[in-house]
Amino acid sequence: MGRPFYLTTPIYYVNDAPHIGHAYTTVVGDAICRWQRMAGRDVLFLTGTDEHGLKVAQVAEANGVNPQEWTDRTSARFVAAWRQLDIAEDDFIRTTEPRHYAAVQRFLGAIYDRGDIELGTYEGLYCVPCEDYYTEAQLVDGNCPVHLKPVTAMKEENYFFKLSRYGDRLLEWYEAHPDAVRPGTKRNEALAFIRSGLEDISITRTSLRWGVPVPWDPGHVFYVWYDALVNYVTAIGYGEDPDRFQRWWPAVHHVIGKEILRFHCVWWPAMCMAAGIDPPASVFVHGWLLVGGEKMSKTRLNQIAPADLIADVGVDGYRYHFLRDVPFGADGDFSHEGMVARYNADLANNLGNLLSRVTAVVARKCEGVAPAPPADSPLAAVAAQVSADAAGAWERFAPHEALEATWRLIHAANAHLEDNEPWKAEPGPAVDAVLGAAVETLRIVALLAAPAMPGACGQLWRRLGLGGRPDELRLPEATAWGGYPGGLVLERGTPLFPRIQPD
Ligand code: ME8
Ligand code: MG
Repeated sequence: MGRPFYLTTPIYYVNDAPHIGHAYTTVVGDAICRWQRMAGRDVLFLTGTDEHGLKVAQVAEANGVNPQEWTDRTSARFVAAWRQLDIAEDDFIRTTEPRHYAAVQRFLGAIYDRGDIELGTYEGLYCVPCEDYYTEAQLVDGNCPVHLKPVTAMKEENYFFKLSRYGDRLLEWYEAHPDAVRPGTKRNEALAFIRSGLEDISITRTSLRWGVPVPWDPGHVFYVWYDALVNYVTAIGYGEDPDRFQRWWPAVHHVIGKEILRFHCVWWPAMCMAAGIDPPASVFVHGWLLVGGEKMSKTRLNQIAPADLIADVGVDGYRYHFLRDVPFGADGDFSHEGMVARYNADLANNLGNLLSRVTAVVARKCEGVAPAPPADSPLAAVAAQVSADAAGAWERFAPHEALEATWRLIHAANAHLEDNEPWKAEPGPAVDAVLGAAVETLRIVALLAAPAMPGACGQLWRRLGLGGRPDELRLPEATAWGGYPGGLVLERGTPLFPRIQPD
């Protein structure tokens, strides 16, 4: 077994169907995990659904079903979306599962036993869509700063987590672990929040039954965020299988959107410390997909379903667009024209043309049988550099850079064909050398792009006459120049990426 690589997405609320914002995090996580698997790591990729809380209880009631029925239905829609998008999660966790109840009660019970949970009274302003409290000062025009909707005044007796005791320990911990939050701007945001002074947080509810019961006081259920964060340790056998837990923890990568930074970079590490385990090693915070400059969200009703876009550009075109066009970390404005333009330029034209040209010329000049690549092709050095650059970028969680590097190789191969014009030359060793190099380039591209486009790269692989699938091979070894054996029959099929007429 390779070294462990554990990556999580947020678990998504089941108040409504998945949209391309959820799909964004999940596709990026999936692509990074696929890369790590090819690099020989033993990967655990976790995603799932967050099923408790007021928001879900309210929406179930509005739809006239009990919360469990509603969550069963909606969680299944997330699973279906991930099947459609070629997501290969190793585990899909639902917070209503018995394994999660057991882990939450054990984890939070440990914090209680160690003395960092106490009874108190809470009064505050609550945003139901956020499932979060705000102070007057945090409101924007009297509304929640994320959803721009009114907040509700709440008062309850409940249990508090003594977060106020953890400020110094968190600062020390971040001092000692400079890469624990990336990018650096987000680390600074977390530090600023901690330095501004931490208040205790209310972690149970008596006004609501839809949650995990508090083991030492069954009149209470845990506040949804307090239960949700624990999913990351439930899935690796917290309190159940110590060997398994130790294998994956704390070397985890939590990938999240920027609106939930405080929960993951302040609360969660403090909760871990309080329960007596190490905080997560790494949280990667990305920006928002915007639609017309606004955050797309379930509550703002400007959501786009992945299926609508897949109908236009296919699963691989969809995955490629979001991985290539949104620099991971920053906000990105979604536009349909941008997606189609990227598809036509990179997939239909550059990659698609390279493949169709090479198969056509191999058919005419080599009777359809691809020659082996020459050892001294100028493309060999480009391929080596591109493979190294792509590997570095995937390691840094920069899929857009990895794909940009990969496409440099495609450009170089197209240019090499144009410089040599094998379609005009007599069959012979010179033509074989140019075509062999082009086929070898396509083989390497199929490997490097497989994490982003598993389906299309599998097809590309078959068209080159190769057996198995590119993602069964190991990187970087498999990308070494000269791997294509030659003597294989290329398949001439319909275009891998048919051009789309922009409308
Ligand atoms: O916050 N752009 O769930 P949620 C980019 N259940 N990413 C987006 C996005 C957008 N417009 N909209 C959503 C919750 N996301 C909690 C999490 S974790 C222990 C509990 C992605 O359904 C992004 O990853 O509101 C964001 O953080 C997440 O979906 C929020 O999903
Ligand atoms: Mg949200």
